[in-house]
Amino acid sequence: MVKQVQKCPSGALGYYFKDEKAETESISSEQIVETIPNGPLMVYGNLEVKLPSGEVKKMSKVSAFCRCGGSQNKPFCDGTHKKIDFKG
Ligand code: FES
Repeated sequence: MVKQVQKCPSGALGYYFKDEKAETESISSEQIVETIPNGPLMVYGNLEVKLPSGEVKKMSKVSAFCRCGGSQNKPFCDGTHKKIDFKG
């Protein structure tokens, strides 16, 4: 079963190990996440982001999330990673 999942051309199938047995599940991939070297976490697709204030912000197309910890607009990236020469 694991080999079948690994051959899935769309990546829509996934698996995880539970009690040393591989199990499969269907995973929706309506969003794509990309880690930018030395920069933010990019999420492509429509999102609802729940902020610490409780406000829910609807995002579309592409969102950049801070990985460096320096943004003044967390959880979003504000470009500070460049100023502080973030590596990661
Ligand atoms: S990753 Fe861009 S401000 Fe932190």
